[in-house]
Amino acid sequence: MPELILPGPRVHASFLEAMKEFEAEGRGVREDNSMLGRDILRYGGRWEDPEVFAEYAAAVRADADEDGPRPEGHVPCTTLWWVEGDTYLGRIAVRHRLNGFLLDYGGHIGYDVRASARRRGHATAMLRAALPVVHSVGIDPVLVTCDDTNTASRRVVEKCGGVFEDRRGKKLRYWIATGPAAPRVRRAGPGEAQAAGE
Ligand SMILES: CC(C)(COP(=O)(O)OP(=O)(O)OC[C@H]1O[C@@H](n2cnc3c(N)ncnc32)[C@H](O)[C@@H]1OP(=O)(O)O)[C@@H](O)C(=O)NCCC(=O)NCCS
Repeated sequence: MPELILPGPRVHASFLEAMKEFEAEGRGVREDNSMLGRDILRYGGRWEDPEVFAEYAAAVRADADEDGPRPEGHVPCTTLWWVEGDTYLGRIAVRHRLNGFLLDYGGHIGYDVRASARRRGHATAMLRAALPVVHSVGIDPVLVTCDDTNTASRRVVEKCGGVFEDRRGKKLRYWIATGPAAPRVRRAGPGEAQAAGE
């Protein structure tokens, strides 16, 4: 059974293989401003070294700290890895609060599943498994966005109970209730979406 774990050394070998799969898809180039892309740019070619990998994993974990160092405009973020045994399958990142950009486009959540593990339900299971964690961070409902062309991500969000609010630019915006006993329909907040439980 796959599970969510904090970033750490257990899946080192398989994490490196997964990053090669992302690179083969064009991730980690200068234009890739995603978290994954930035990580590949910064640590790629170095994180084969167990010490560098441990440093990387520690930095990812520390990004959840309220007072940790982070680029201007970035908010604290909890990242969890979706793994089965020693195999890295993907990751989900939970941004602890929304700034203007995240509210309009980025949302609270980012996720990726490695190419060789796709279309097996992992992203759906990973997002579902993360909802209690998201709730424990104090987020309910959670905003998840995806590109209007990203059919897979859209299906993931909808299968996890995402309630569509609107489209901003090319981003589709959905709210998902995270509470353990969320009522079927609840107000998300003044002027915001209706969010439904599963
Ligand atoms: C989006 C992504 C996370 C989906 O991961 P996944 O593990 O393959 O997703 P799942 O297996 O849970 O599939 C969820 C649904 O999407 C569908 N789906 C998956 N890949 C698809 C594709 N390429 N085209 C169309 N539908 C697809 C599945 O069939 C499933 O729908 P169904 O239950 O109705 O059949 C993965 O493709 C990915 O990492 N992409 C690159 C990064 C990305 O886009 N991240 C999301 C940013 S918002």
